[in-house]
Amino acid sequence: MITKPKGTYDVLPLESKEWQKLEEVIRKICKLYNYKEIRTPIFESSDVFHRDQNDTSDMVTKETYDFKDRSDRGITLRPEGTAGVARAFVENKLYVDNPVSKLFYMGPMFRYERPQKGRNRQFSQFGVEALGSDSAYIDAEVIALGASLIRALGLKDVTVKINSLGDEESRSKYKEVLVNYFSKYQDCLCDDCKNRLVKNPLRILDCKVDRDQEFFKAAPKINDYLNQESKDRFKKVLDSLDSMDLKYVIDDNLVRGLDYYCHTVFELEVNVPEFGAQNVIGAGGRYNKLISDLGGPLTPGVGMAFGMERLLLATNFAGKKLAKDDSIHAYFIALGEKAEKEALKIMNACRIGGLSCEMDYLNGSLKSQFKKADKNNARFTIIFGENELEEMKCNIKDNETDNQETISLLEVYNYILSKLNKASACNTCPSKN
Ligand code: HAM
Repeated sequence: MITKPKGTYDVLPLESKEWQKLEEVIRKICKLYNYKEIRTPIFESSDVFHRDQNDTSDMVTKETYDFKDRSDRGITLRPEGTAGVARAFVENKLYVDNPVSKLFYMGPMFRYERPQKGRNRQFSQFGVEALGSDSAYIDAEVIALGASLIRALGLKDVTVKINSLGDEESRSKYKEVLVNYFSKYQDCLCDDCKNRLVKNPLRILDCKVDRDQEFFKAAPKINDYLNQESKDRFKKVLDSLDSMDLKYVIDDNLVRGLDYYCHTVFELEVNVPEFGAQNVIGAGGRYNKLISDLGGPLTPGVGMAFGMERLLLATNFAGKKLAKDDSIHAYFIALGEKAEKEALKIMNACRIGGLSCEMDYLNGSLKSQFKKADKNNARFTIIFGENELEEMKCNIKDNETDNQETISLLEVYNYILSKLNKASACNTCPSKN
């Protein structure tokens, strides 16, 4: 048997309904905040992600799926959405018509990570990117959008952790201080951090291996090295969150795993024990140089992305079901070859008219067919054999009221419509999922 690659998963029919509902909720929220959908390629030229030789983020150095295509071009499966959106923004000159572009996307991302609960090699992100404004208010708006999604999904126990990495001046001063500090403990650092000490000392604070050591906890905090402008900006973001009554916790070790961030960075964490180590369901921050690094004009940006699997996992643990059970309008039990043929014809007419229908294609017994009608959550069951067919009649049962009637086969469609009490058949199933 050929099996799926490690770190991937199948979304089976029962689960896909939950995905559709999540996507629906996301689209509604994006509409409320006026973010427009953008769809970018799943693979990009490798340069989109591997821009900077000094980038030490794990995602960029060891987690991307890189390969050469048949024409020897360097290709990378997108590990995240931001860089691809930024590339599309520059290439399509989106800045020409709109001073601020508010964009959202959903889709698969790929990272060669060690799979575990909530961590896959192919996973899906929902992300938003607001490009063109340096306003602290838009940082707060992005976080508010995230909080609205959490609320709409009925999730509780979610903490917003926030920090500021300041502007370049603040960060370079802080980096110097960090290098001096961690150099004293160089022998105690893990191999990755020894490398980070040279290439990107800030990322040491993000280390999962070293973080419990005492010297690590006592490391200098970035907040003490922010210049006045960066401090004021961070305060403005926090004040805006306060004004919207959004709760947050300042976490001065939060630096994020990607190198493009400046000023505001944040993560949304679910505090449910069953969730395990991968409890960050969404994260983001400001990036003011990414667009220019990709060849565009100097354009500030801010955004965030949620792991959609983690969102579904969190709703699951919260005991929430996003989608109602699937249902259909009518299940046809046709007994005998001729009745089956007629059922197929009537079903097709009903489907064209907007009613969802199903029948048994396995010649099952009457009992098993009733069971299938039940399993399909059919609102109506229509039963007829060859005798009834001769009179063009059938028995129709309303499974909601248990009421049964004998009606003309020609009347099935109109009968169901009238019972559904709608002027015209809806396009969806009766449960209005
Ligand atoms: P990120 O923190 O790398 O940020 O990923 C965002 C979210 O994607 C994570 O919080 C997590 O929920 C989910 N995620 C990441 N890796 C995996 C995985 N292997 N399996 C399952 N879920 C995963 C970014 O990607 C940035 N582009 C976010 C951003 C947007 N910043 C600004 N704009």
